[in-house]
Amino acid sequence: ASLTAFIAGMPKAELHVHLEGTLESPLRLELAARNGMEVSVAEQSYTDLTSFLAAYYPNMDVLQTQSDFYDLAYAYLVKAAGQGVRHTEMFFDPQAHTSRGIPFVSVITGYHEAIVDAGRALGIHGQLIMCILRDHSVESAAATLEESLRYKHWIVGIGLDSDERGNPPSKFAVVFARARDEGYRLTMHCDVDQENSIEHIRQALEDIGVERIDHGTNILEDPRLVQLVIDRGIGLTSCPLSNAIVSEGSKSGELLTLLRAGVKITVNSDDPPYFGGYVVENLVHLAGISDITRDELVLLQRNAFEVSWLAEADRRVFL
Ligand code: ADE
Ligand code: ZN
Repeated sequence: ASLTAFIAGMPKAELHVHLEGTLESPLRLELAARNGMEVSVAEQSYTDLTSFLAAYYPNMDVLQTQSDFYDLAYAYLVKAAGQGVRHTEMFFDPQAHTSRGIPFVSVITGYHEAIVDAGRALGIHGQLIMCILRDHSVESAAATLEESLRYKHWIVGIGLDSDERGNPPSKFAVVFARARDEGYRLTMHCDVDQENSIEHIRQALEDIGVERIDHGTNILEDPRLVQLVIDRGIGLTSCPLSNAIVSEGSKSGELLTLLRAGVKITVNSDDPPYFGGYVVENLVHLAGISDITRDELVLLQRNAFEVSWLAEADRRVFL
């Protein structure tokens, strides 16, 4: 098979995709029309995390009703299933909506029902990870966590995203400790080449005790922390096409060095229409610019199922 066909044919797990970041322009225009909103269709450009986020959040204003959230998640699940994704753990940002007056219940119910329906119709398995916006206050994070508790059975874990500058993991230590006590799994973004990245990675691993890190390739700056993630079997969810836009290059060299050292690296799409591709395009891009082997492409998927937050009985179905 051609390499692209081989990549498309592998059973895959995706662990780092933001549902709000899967909003394609045609759906955005459809939702705007449905909700009686006028939206700009100007080309957006961004070259780093801050400028990306400045383009990203205003686009979400078209998400208003439970059906809008349902349609967004369902469209992503159709796309992912079509690319051979069997299991996906999807981030969502309730504060990006509750801060605009959209009720939490509309967001979570729309997303949850899409996962149930897509599971029945397409056989794709999905779980939700609620992200805290790190550039909002600790009080807002704590209130969001409390509000999530009545939907705990629909949420597998808690993550941390948005603008990292000046917002280290330690800012949310109390909130994440409470999340752990409530039984949530924990992960945090440590975006590529951010200020103090290695200190943020250290805090996430040693002070917070996360089970995964989203991005996190700057860990190479500290061999002791590389050994720690190997020893603990901690997964790093990389996103090559995202790296290429918000940092300098896709970080394929770093990714392969870590993979070959025994770190559980996975490859994911982050915000597909914003960064130019879903998981297959990310893997094809990586294969095109590196010497990754087919066995290593399969290893990326084995890693993803292993570090996923599937229940053990479900994991055995996939592995
Ligand atoms: N929100 C959506 N995508 C993100 C990313 N790559 N980093 C931080 N926050 C995000
Ligand atoms: Zn992300």
